[in-house]
Amino acid sequence: MTKRNSPQAFQKKVLDWYHQHGRKDLPWQQQITPYRVWVSEIMLQQTQVSTVIPYFERFMARLPSLAALASANTDEVLALWTGLGYYARARNLHKCAQTVVAEHGGEFPKSVELLAALPGIGRSTAGAIASLSMGLAAPILDGNVKRVLARHYAIAGWPGQTSVAAELWQQAEALTPGKNCNHYTQAMMDLGATLCTRSKPACERCPLQRSCLAYAQGNPLDYPGKKPKAEKPVKATTLLMLQNPKGQVLLCQRPATGIWGGLWCFPEIAAGDSGELSHWLQQLGINSQAKGEAWPSFRHTFSHYHLDITPLLLPLPKAPSAVMEGQRQWVSPGQVDHLGLAAPVVELLRRLPAKRA
Ligand code: ADE
Ligand code: SF4
Repeated sequence: MTKRNSPQAFQKKVLDWYHQHGRKDLPWQQQITPYRVWVSEIMLQQTQVSTVIPYFERFMARLPSLAALASANTDEVLALWTGLGYYARARNLHKCAQTVVAEHGGEFPKSVELLAALPGIGRSTAGAIASLSMGLAAPILDGNVKRVLARHYAIAGWPGQTSVAAELWQQAEALTPGKNCNHYTQAMMDLGATLCTRSKPACERCPLQRSCLAYAQGNPLDYPGKKPKAEKPVKATTLLMLQNPKGQVLLCQRPATGIWGGLWCFPEIAAGDSGELSHWLQQLGINSQAKGEAWPSFRHTFSHYHLDITPLLLPLPKAPSAVMEGQRQWVSPGQVDHLGLAAPVVELLRRLPAKRA
């Protein structure tokens, strides 16, 4: 006999619901391997399922194995990621593949601790890989599961706070079943993603309704607690669109760390540094007093600040004499599919005239 509120009772409700309503046809649920599950979990960390699916299919078509990813060049990996955002994920993905080849003989280690020690793999992602692809009994605590558990057990406070996270992990561990943990893990994710949603939980259809404390209190939306807010600072910058007479524009590869790390971008002129424009022209062997054509500014928001971007189009009177080094190149606005591009650059390239009159 299982008691009404025992872990076994909780698991049974969740698993029964999964067999009826859970998702079983997602691309990473077919031909299940640690590699496929890992890539999907990283993509899904900050991006929703419907967006991820085509990226995942394309990624697997080009880089079907861990070995293929480990030996790919960084530009190709970033190009496959363009549009998904949070590019540190792609760089870590690449680094992780190389680490698994160098330190684990090309196979993901079969332990949550060793998985969690790899680049870009946190405790929850390690648990997801272990349970979904290796048949191990391992807890997860991603955003969806945090929400379900915080509501079901009325765990107050912001999960970014250590003590709140510790309480949620403790619950997650206590509930993790020894058997069928792969289905349980997927079920908890699905329950959070499709029923116990952030702003409109469908409690009337939820298998956990009778034991859910937040439902009993009538306030599911109060869980999980919100992060204390801080205003995002606003920074400003100018992106310089140098266009040669053939219509090509100059792109520079960003340093590996910092915003748009490793991606291709227009040369940046930090706010208030008017000397930089003449510096660029000098470097290119162009003697120009031109001021350029400023396009309307627009805002791009990062996790920690807003960046107000002013694009500055500067048509060059003649082809530049300087030879380009490795981290710069002239590209035609319509022929950039092979490059990892910063998001605002994609949009600006689209708006640029292809050829100058
Ligand atoms: N989000 C994170 N992992 C997921 C998975 N395996 N299925 C659906 N959504 C997810
Ligand atoms: Fe979430 Fe409502 Fe189910 Fe509670 S009853 S777990 S709040 S959907």
